[in-house]
Amino acid sequence: MTDPSEELRRTAEAVEPALDALLPAAEGPRGRVVEAMRYAALGGGKRLRPHLLLCSAALFGAPQAGSLRAAAALEMVHCYSLIHDDLPAMDDSPLRRGRPSVHKAFGEDIAILAGDALLTEAFAVLAAPETSEDPSVRAELVAGLARAAGTAGMVGGQAIDIAPERGTLNLEGITALQEMKTGALIAFACDAGAILGGAAPERRDALAGYARHLGLAFQIVDDLLDLEGDAGALGKPVGQDEALEKATFVGLLGIDAARARAEDEVAQSLSCLEIFGESADSLGQIARFVLQRRS
Ligand code: IPE
Ligand code: IPE
Ligand code: MG
Ligand code: MG
Ligand code: MG
Repeated sequence: MTDPSEELRRTAEAVEPALDALLPAAEGPRGRVVEAMRYAALGGGKRLRPHLLLCSAALFGAPQAGSLRAAAALEMVHCYSLIHDDLPAMDDSPLRRGRPSVHKAFGEDIAILAGDALLTEAFAVLAAPETSEDPSVRAELVAGLARAAGTAGMVGGQAIDIAPERGTLNLEGITALQEMKTGALIAFACDAGAILGGAAPERRDALAGYARHLGLAFQIVDDLLDLEGDAGALGKPVGQDEALEKATFVGLLGIDAARARAEDEVAQSLSCLEIFGESADSLGQIARFVLQRRS
């Protein structure tokens, strides 16, 4: 059995030069915004979403070079979401990936623009013929990422996350919030591999089930780590959710029940992988890693 952190490290090693090559050079009068994009996207993070995409793409035999581009594009959108999430108007967080957050290092104006540019340019990466020679595959990737990032996905979830009425959410409401703000990009990671590999509908649906449960488990663990994790290991502050009165499983259910729910979600995600047999071992490893992670 391979160590999932080792596999993640290998993905990070592949994604880093891919991102580096896709991002523009920081020169000329626009240099500062590009510098901020590069600061946000390079040299940190677990690269979990790219790893999911690459494992899913491998499961369906998708071409590697195009999959790596899609993985980098997805990570660009994730990094944009982190820049904006940390802004004073959102979570007001000074630290990300063990370094000052982008607005602390570059100012709010540049941070907003760097996020905007990472989001926008991710779609150019997906739409380019180098990602797939099949235009219908490219169109499906673009549409899928747009849905996952927009009001039906990440942005919608972030809006509920900061809404004044967030304190009234019940379990169903919090589940929907988490599925949107975090689950949607994780679900797209898996679906992108299925799109690139031309997966049969039954197998694509099974992987979507895995991703849905995994996404929920991932955010519950993020919320647990905010309460009982180590800021040094996480590279971001702890205790923010309580201070900002966020609606979380942990806040509603307490630590033990939230952890039990995360374990149950992981068990369900693993059962969705059964139809793939051993070929989905890497994906199974990621699900177990999500429960054990400390960063
Ligand atoms: C943090 O995501 C934001 C959430 C959706 C919880 P990650 O925990 O994947 O952050 P990085 O990419 O490893 O920094
Ligand atoms: C953020 O959730 C989800 C995003 C869409 C970025 P959190 O606000 O809990 O993420 P962290 O804890 O700051 O990484
Ligand atoms: Mg947030
Ligand atoms: Mg935050
Ligand atoms: Mg958090």
